[in-house]
Amino acid sequence: MTILVTGGAGYIGSHTVVQLLDAGHEVLVLDNLCNSKATVIDRIEKIAGKRPHFIQGDVRDRALLQELFAKFAITAVIHFAGLKSVAECSVKPLLYYDNNVSGSIVLAEEMARANIYTLVFSSSATVYGEPVFLPYTEAHPLKPINVYGQSKLMVEQILQDLAASNSAWRIALLRYFNPVGAHASGHIGEDPSGIPNNLMPFLAQVAVGKREYLSIFGDDYETVDGTGVRDYIHVDDLASGHLAALTYLDQHAGVVTVNLGTGKGTSVLELVSAFERASGKAIARQIVGRRPGDLPEYYAQADYAKRVLGWQAKHDVDRMCTDSWRWQSQNPNGFN
Ligand code: NAD
Ligand code: UFG
Repeated sequence: MTILVTGGAGYIGSHTVVQLLDAGHEVLVLDNLCNSKATVIDRIEKIAGKRPHFIQGDVRDRALLQELFAKFAITAVIHFAGLKSVAECSVKPLLYYDNNVSGSIVLAEEMARANIYTLVFSSSATVYGEPVFLPYTEAHPLKPINVYGQSKLMVEQILQDLAASNSAWRIALLRYFNPVGAHASGHIGEDPSGIPNNLMPFLAQVAVGKREYLSIFGDDYETVDGTGVRDYIHVDDLASGHLAALTYLDQHAGVVTVNLGTGKGTSVLELVSAFERASGKAIARQIVGRRPGDLPEYYAQADYAKRVLGWQAKHDVDRMCTDSWRWQSQNPNGFN
């Protein structure tokens, strides 16, 4: 069984590819490397003892998809390929809609043409928007507050309509909360280009001496300590959620929509303390103003994933920090 993993050289994709190989699957990675490096494939091989097939190319390239579907016996697709910068999406909305929405349409069209109907899609907790209630259940209203979130919601809706049109489709829409951490080997992890937008990679770069201090975006929210609260989930837990989704889709047609989170909120200051414990480094920090567009607090209701997929996150915040620190300290310049 060959699984096509689009965006498989990226952060979440690479961790998922390792687990797919460990589980005995053949894997084909399709990635245009717009936000990743080809050396990731070597690292994956080093961990798994097996090399995935790798094609550098774009998910919007219809001819390439046709060629790959003809050449490989692909039975399912995990679709990670997408752009994810909240800062960039409002400046380049068409780029985001084209990459994320058109990319998914081209992929689904070519899958259907090749009679491949099993698809796992990377959605995001960002589809919920401003919390009407917490924790977010899968039934929470959907009202994304940025273009990135809109693009994810559009793909969810398109895939729902597609499944309604043809009962052959088996689709999992996985709404990720905040993935952090790295593989326990320290060989793969998150490697953002330029200045990290997200908290964990920024923290790790302060600890390793690449950045002077962490800016904390606001300490006057109505949260446990005034700083923003998120549901951080270890990337290896997230990866195993994809294998659980594939197993579920073996038995069930239609669409399943599932939160992948821990159900537990952690504040910025709590994460900083956990990182200090994990790394043994003091993290210099400064409280600055709120970041525009940030929500104060959100976390998942994680029970549905447990019930339908038989999956739940295992790793706590200390483990997330230990693994992020191992990756960062062993690879101060990421994959470079
Ligand atoms: P990432 O940028 O590390 O990985 C995405 C990969 O897709 C990259 O390797 C990139 O080169 C590739 N890619 C992008 N557009 C492509 C295209 N048109 N054709 C081929 N390859 C393309 O990001 P990630 O954190 O691993 O995220 C994976 C998916 O999960 C994305 O769809 C993202 O939107 C979604 N997601 C991420 C988070 C997060 O916080 N990391 C949260 C929720 C959802
Ligand atoms: N934060 C800081 N300083 C930083 C970076 C972040 O204080 O340098 C704070 C933020 O204000 C927030 C928390 O840390 O309170 C987490 O911020 P991240 O940027 O790490 O994560 P977000 O929840 O803002 O966004 C992430 C992804 C989005 C995705 C969303 C939901 O970046 O793409 O999770 O899945 F949509």
